[in-house]
Amino acid sequence: MEEYVQQLFGFIERSPSPFHAVEDVRRRLEENGFVPLQESQLWKLSPGGRYYVTRNRSSCLAFRLPEEKPSGFMLVASHSDSPTFRIKENGELISSLYTRLNVERYGGMLYTPWFDRPLSVAGRLLVRRGEALETRLVALHQDVAIIPNVAGHMGLRQNDGFHYAPQQDLCPLIGGPQAKGALRAVLAKAADVEPQEIAGSDLILYLREKGRIAGINGEYLLSPRLDDLECAFGTLQGFLQAEPSPACAVYCLFDNEEVGSATRQGADSSFLSDTLTRIAEALDMGAQQLRAAIARSMMLSADNAHAVHPNHPELSDPDNGVQMNAGIVVKFNANQRYTSDGVSSALFREICRRAGVPTQSYANRSDMPGGSTLGNIANTHISMHTVDVGLAQLAMHSCCETAGTADLAYLVRASKAFYETALYAGEDGSYRLFTK
Ligand code: CO
Repeated sequence: MEEYVQQLFGFIERSPSPFHAVEDVRRRLEENGFVPLQESQLWKLSPGGRYYVTRNRSSCLAFRLPEEKPSGFMLVASHSDSPTFRIKENGELISSLYTRLNVERYGGMLYTPWFDRPLSVAGRLLVRRGEALETRLVALHQDVAIIPNVAGHMGLRQNDGFHYAPQQDLCPLIGGPQAKGALRAVLAKAADVEPQEIAGSDLILYLREKGRIAGINGEYLLSPRLDDLECAFGTLQGFLQAEPSPACAVYCLFDNEEVGSATRQGADSSFLSDTLTRIAEALDMGAQQLRAAIARSMMLSADNAHAVHPNHPELSDPDNGVQMNAGIVVKFNANQRYTSDGVSSALFREICRRAGVPTQSYANRSDMPGGSTLGNIANTHISMHTVDVGLAQLAMHSCCETAGTADLAYLVRASKAFYETALYAGEDGSYRLFTK
C-alpha cells in the first residue's frame, strides 16, 4: 500500500503538466513492451500485441489485443489535466517596481490555496529546428513565481468574504522590472534552444511540492494534482498487471476534462472512436463485428469523488456520503451527469465483489448541482455500458488535495480485475461476466 503511494508521488512529481503525465505513462508503457503508433501513419497490428497512441502528446490510448479477435473492449478512462493557471501569449505585466505574469485560470480552481506558495512553470514549447517545428517539454526545476497575499494590516479584509478579481488579485510575481523577458530566456535555456527559436508554447503554473503522508496514523495522502493523476496512476497499474482476457484492454488518459473535454484530444473528440475503429480495421473486423464488440464493451470513467467534509458534513447527501479509506466510490446522478446506472453499477460491483474490493455509493445532495466528468461525454461518441467511479478525496480543485492512503491499492486491484473480465451480453438486459 505504502509502495503504491510512494510511486504515485513520484508520478505526480514527474507530471507537472498533462504533456509530462503522458510522457511518463509512455515511458512506463514502453518499459512493458508497448509499441508506439502514430495517428498519421497506417497501422499494422498483430493479435496479442501491445500498442499505444497519443494525440497532442497530452492524451494517450494504450491497448492490449487478445490472441483472437476481441470479444469486446474493456476501457478505463481518467484525465491528465488539473485546474491551474495558464500563461497568456503576452505573458508579462511590467510596472516600475515589479514584473508579474499575466495568467488565465484553467478549470474550476479554488483561488486561495495558490497564495504564498512557491510556483514553477511547465508545459510544452514548439521550437524551430531547421525546416521543422519540434515539441520540447519543459519544467523549470526552480520556484520562479509567487502570488502574494495582501497583509492583514492593509485593510483588504480577506477573512470577511472577500471577492477575488482574477486579473488583479491572482497575478504571480516573478521579479523586479529588470525581470522583463527573463522567463522566455529561462524557458529557452531549459529547452536548450535560443529564445528566438521558440515559435509557440502552452505553459502553466505548477507546485513542485512533493506528495506526503499525513494524519495521526498516516491515514491520508496530501499532494497536488490528485484529481485525477491518482486515478491515472492507479488504473495504469491495474492495466499493466492484468492477465489477458478475450476482450481488448484499453487504458485511456484524456486531456482537457477540467474545461469540458471539447478539444481535439479530449474525451469529446474523435480520438477514442477513431482508435477503436482503426483497431477493428487492422484486425480485419467488419463494421458489424465492431458494433457487436462495442455492445459487449464496458467503460470505467475514473475520476475522484468528494469525501464527506469533516467541518461541513451537511454539504453531503445524508445517505450517500463517502469516506476516505473505505473503497471505490461509484457515483450516481439522476440527471445522468454520471453514467452509472443499475446495469453498469451492478456489473462493476460484481467485479469488485469477486476481487474482494469494497465499494461505496455517492450522490450529491438533492439541492446541489455537483460536478460532472468525462464518462457521459465519451458516451456521446461511442456508447457502451459505463460506470463513474473514483476515490474519495477532500479539497478537490485546491492546488493541494487530500485522499485516503488505503484507497489507491483498492483502485489498482479493482482495475486489474476489470481488465481481466470480458462482458457477454445476449438478449438486451441479460449479462454475464467472464473472469478467469
Ligand atoms: Co477530475
